[in-house]
Amino acid sequence: MAETHEEIIKVWIAPGCIVCDACETDCPPVFEVLEDTCIVRPDAQDAEFTKPLTPSIIVAAEGCPVEVIKYEMIEVEGPEPEAWSQEPEPAEAGAPGSHGGADRMVVVTGDPDPKWAGLLAHATASGRGEAGDRVHAQDYPRVAKVPPEAVVAALPYDAPPDTVSAAMVASGMVKPRPTMAQRIQSKGAALVSAAEMSRRQFTIALVIAWGALVGVAATAGGLLQSFMVPKATKEPPSKFRAGKLSDYPTDAVYEQFKGSRGIWIIRQKGVLFVLSTTCTHLGCIPNWWPNDKKFKCPCHGSGFYMSGINFEGPAPRPLERLAVSLDGETLVVDKAKKFRYELKQWVDPKSYIQV
Ligand code: SF4
Ligand code: FES
Repeated sequence: MAETHEEIIKVWIAPGCIVCDACETDCPPVFEVLEDTCIVRPDAQDAEFTKPLTPSIIVAAEGCPVEVIKYEMIEVEGPEPEAWSQEPEPAEAGAPGSHGGADRMVVVTGDPDPKWAGLLAHATASGRGEAGDRVHAQDYPRVAKVPPEAVVAALPYDAPPDTVSAAMVASGMVKPRPTMAQRIQSKGAALVSAAEMSRRQFTIALVIAWGALVGVAATAGGLLQSFMVPKATKEPPSKFRAGKLSDYPTDAVYEQFKGSRGIWIIRQKGVLFVLSTTCTHLGCIPNWWPNDKKFKCPCHGSGFYMSGINFEGPAPRPLERLAVSLDGETLVVDKAKKFRYELKQWVDPKSYIQV
């Protein structure tokens, strides 16, 4: 039976990554850890890319603390590539870029080719079995500015994954990431900053809320006070002077105080009296119709004679008279004193003036 081995043709990250960086450390050509999650690099979506990296991907998957790295394998005829099972052997000296042992090791002597400079500057990586030997991408500063294409082109097809990883890191193709401690520190600083911002916003919101509350309370207090406190002081005094008697020379309805005081002053058949402008039906203000010589309420049609006595409509009783007197030649009206016809109060001398 022909010998076979398995190769990874597809790799993906399931939900739940905790951004621990381990996978990128184990297999940087395939995994890239971002701020919030880990992704499979675009190049690693290709089966031909992942097949030779099968061991590294498996190491990364087994090292993932939350086991979210998933992959799919196919069975391939032929023995497993030696590089997958052998520890790297010491390389024989050779030309830069040669590989052997020796075929799988990049060996550089003398002045290194610039494209390997970064790798050689930190070339402590070898196998991936022991923690002390492991290549850590973040340990490699980007000292070499070699075109990534040149590095890739220089790599043998079956180059050990660690070598590939290190070369890519050194070339700048893979961007070194901050350490976990740095990431935690950075996230902590961001959280503190956000918390400070939240505190500031909260304080501002609190001040605004208190301001609004005080405003509402003041308005409510004002309304309450206006409701509770008698309005007498805000209204015109009930007793007032209404001009000289001579201002009312003939029989007529005088309307100059209708709007401001709510009264008519009426001179009729030798007497002067004052009527309230409030309709005795539901409180509307009637109008004086001089041609018809009547007061007519616009609300429900009640009609009152010039004397104030009702004669049509729903008004149940005559308009009310108000106290009137003379202070010398001056008319004095007192709205606080009312006289009702139906109660025979119009005979009260305070309810009229003889003229
Ligand atoms: S090892 Fe797992 S948890 Fe850690 S970054 Fe990679 S996918 Fe995420
Ligand atoms: S309020 Fe005057 S008639 Fe109704």
